[in-house]
Amino acid sequence: MSKKLNILITAGPTQEPLDPVRYLTNASSGKMGYALAHAAITLGHRVTLVSGPVSLKPPNKAKFIPVQTALQMRTQVMRHFAKQDVVMMVAAVADYRPKHFSKQKIKKTRSSFTLKLVRNPDILKEICSKKRKNQIIVGFAAETEKFLQNAKQKLHSKKCDWIILNDVSQKGIGFNSDKNKITLLNQKGVFLHLGPSAKKNLASIILQKIIRSC
Ligand code: CTP
Repeated sequence: MSKKLNILITAGPTQEPLDPVRYLTNASSGKMGYALAHAAITLGHRVTLVSGPVSLKPPNKAKFIPVQTALQMRTQVMRHFAKQDVVMMVAAVADYRPKHFSKQKIKKTRSSFTLKLVRNPDILKEICSKKRKNQIIVGFAAETEKFLQNAKQKLHSKKCDWIILNDVSQKGIGFNSDKNKITLLNQKGVFLHLGPSAKKNLASIILQKIIRSC
């Protein structure tokens, strides 16, 4: 390895609380983000892992920062961003959170009720707008349709260096699975298709390709 890099990785879902016992979340297991964190440590880099709630063990050598909500994830990413050479936003960040948090458990007194949601900040877009020239920022695009079109749109609208397209429409790959099928895109276009393969194998290939561009 030529250079020891500071790499920040976000992983897992976020949980957006509604009351003390309920929250909105998604099916992300954190496996891809944790596999990337392990691979980066194995390659000798310094890793900060900002993770939503998952049942995985973080690598011993990583600086581990557990969070619950998108707002907490944003705070931690912004706090550590300036020192990073590479940021990989692998987390499935909730786009919306309940507008009101009820301090008491919501009782089923009404026959129906409407939940008001408000937009969470787009962390990836925000860091891309603040990045230094020599920082590499990688986003993930979890898609169920129009895969390349949506991934290219995300790459351009968020202005990141790389987007890793993730097909989450099929059982056995993507969310909550040990395997994944991905496509790496950068501002020049499609760079590489990988998988279906174990997330662990994909993680070390992704890292090596991206680090080569540092
Ligand atoms: N992301 C983020 N902040 C958000 C939502 C997403 O930083 N509030 C990041 C994710 O970590 C990922 C990328 O943006 O790296 C794309 O996330 P994805 O859920 O695929 O797309 P969205 O931007 O949420 O757009 P949409 O839900 O409309 O597909």
